[in-house]
Amino acid sequence: MSVRLGVMASGRGSNFLAIQSEIEQATLDAEIALLISDRSNAPALKQAEKRHVPAKTFPYDKSDRAAFEKSAGDAIDAAGCDYIVLAGFMRILTPYFIERFSGRILNIHPSLLPSFKGLHPQRQALEAGVKFSGCTVHLVTTDLDDGPILAQAVVPVLDDDTEESLSTRILKQEHRLYAEAIRGLSSK
Ligand code: GRF
Repeated sequence: MSVRLGVMASGRGSNFLAIQSEIEQATLDAEIALLISDRSNAPALKQAEKRHVPAKTFPYDKSDRAAFEKSAGDAIDAAGCDYIVLAGFMRILTPYFIERFSGRILNIHPSLLPSFKGLHPQRQALEAGVKFSGCTVHLVTTDLDDGPILAQAVVPVLDDDTEESLSTRILKQEHRLYAEAIRGLSSK
């Protein structure tokens, strides 16, 4: 049965688009019931509009994270989502939200976790001199970039790589990997 997804994105939304494209091509049996953003100018919102995916913005006030999380959580429940897919969502979720949707939040991180958690993982990989990096889809727990790993993809790190060239190589794998991980999920 088709899995209903709530996607949360803060930026350009290429992972959101990759998932939506697989749905449209019927290579992924899912539906994006709702896209949520914390930024009213996120390019992801424009993409959602073009693809006729319902979208909502809830303003994010750092001094009142609970307000955003309550509104976003209620909207996700109202849309009947089985899972929440974080796709470039640039806010740290609090335990309130993570526990409310325990075991039902996925994240993608552009490194082979548990290596290079946090910001700029591609830069961290270059600085560490690793020969391979990649991306990881995992379930979200209250520890940052942690939680059970659902899928990983490996890419080589080349001698002349820049942060940009490595990010591009990893992103190509992210677009494939997220749908692959979602295929492994089951609906309610
Ligand atoms: C991706 O590299 C993802 O792994 C990271 O943020 C980036 C989001 O890109 N969490 P996009 O907005 O999906 O294009």
